[in-house]
Amino acid sequence: MFQSRIGGIGFYVPERVVTNEDLARHMDTSDQWIQERTGIKERRYAEGGKESTSSMGANASKIAIERAGIEASDIDFIIFATLSPDYYFPGSGVLLQRELGITNTEIGALDIRNQCTGFVYGLSIADQYIKTGMYKNILLVGAEFHSMGLDYSTRGRNISVIFGDGAGALVLQATEEEGSGILTTHLHSNGNFAEELAFISPGAHGGYHGNEEMYEFPDVEFGGMFITETMLKEGLTFPNMNGQLVFKNAVRKFPEVIMEALKKTGYDPTDIDLLVPHQANLRISEFVQRIMKLPSEKVFNNIQKYGNTTAASIPIALCEAWESGLVKKGDLICLAAFGSGFTWGSALIRW
Ligand code: ACO
Repeated sequence: MFQSRIGGIGFYVPERVVTNEDLARHMDTSDQWIQERTGIKERRYAEGGKESTSSMGANASKIAIERAGIEASDIDFIIFATLSPDYYFPGSGVLLQRELGITNTEIGALDIRNQCTGFVYGLSIADQYIKTGMYKNILLVGAEFHSMGLDYSTRGRNISVIFGDGAGALVLQATEEEGSGILTTHLHSNGNFAEELAFISPGAHGGYHGNEEMYEFPDVEFGGMFITETMLKEGLTFPNMNGQLVFKNAVRKFPEVIMEALKKTGYDPTDIDLLVPHQANLRISEFVQRIMKLPSEKVFNNIQKYGNTTAASIPIALCEAWESGLVKKGDLICLAAFGSGFTWGSALIRW
């Protein structure tokens, strides 16, 4: 049986830096509040009209493909994780295929919708395909264009200050070298919390959150089949989050799912060379670090610079850690994520 290993990794963040002070000019917030509660100092925003979720994904992919020493035409499957796709449909995977000039129609492109855990879900899917011998070079991308869909009024401040734009990509390749590459992945979900961190409208949810009035025929006046006056008036066309509930669950589930991966492979927390958690909030990472009794140098955080980039946060962080020499051959790397759904997951990698 094949193992899957990371052949190449890359990331892309837009040039435009948006500081906490920049946000404070639009809403009632402050640099101090944002840094104290989230650790975030600044984030990047993509350039509207020029950049897109798939174009950022393509920028990250080109670096990953080059580092893997292959051509885009060698990719035999694409997995694209995002909650901010270019279009409602089709998914961003096919757009990425086009953007990379992959004309081979033998390949498949899969979009996955698992928010902050999207990249770990994608890694797990890719790993299964490689293990069974179905694919040899899978391009796995996480990309987000959050800045397009945030509420920049004071009403949306609990969410808007957290998120940023960017993309990360991996090329996952088949290897026969035992005990290296992806050692294990673990995925979980609990749909009972679906609306606690969600972007609900517009959506085909008929009768929930302002959709009641479109039961007979939608009113085209509001710009599309699913948008109603109530949704616009009540700000339902923006993401919502029960921050404290998310926090409480995240700090429980991160350690649980990390321990699950360690137990499965016979390792202890002390064996981890680097934990790369989803960059949800610096306070969540610090909490997890304390529970896991890990020293600071074994937990990588870059949310201070990029904010929470959801599906892109793990590959951006992993790539930056690798570029700065913190990930070396033979290291045991742990990835873990928690987010909307709720969904959560982990992966252990022998680099
Ligand atoms: N600036 C200033 N004040 C704010 C802001 C802001 N940006 N946002 C909220 N407030 C105010 C609230 O209005 C509230 O005011 P009030 O007391 O007058 O009503 C006060 O601050 C406290 O609000 P809470 O929502 O209770 O703030 P909390 O201390 O919980 O911090 C936060 C909010 C940072 C979102 C926190 O709940 C948290 O970290 N939650 C985890 C969620 C998270 O990190 N999500 C990331 C995305 S999900 C993921 O990736 C897993």
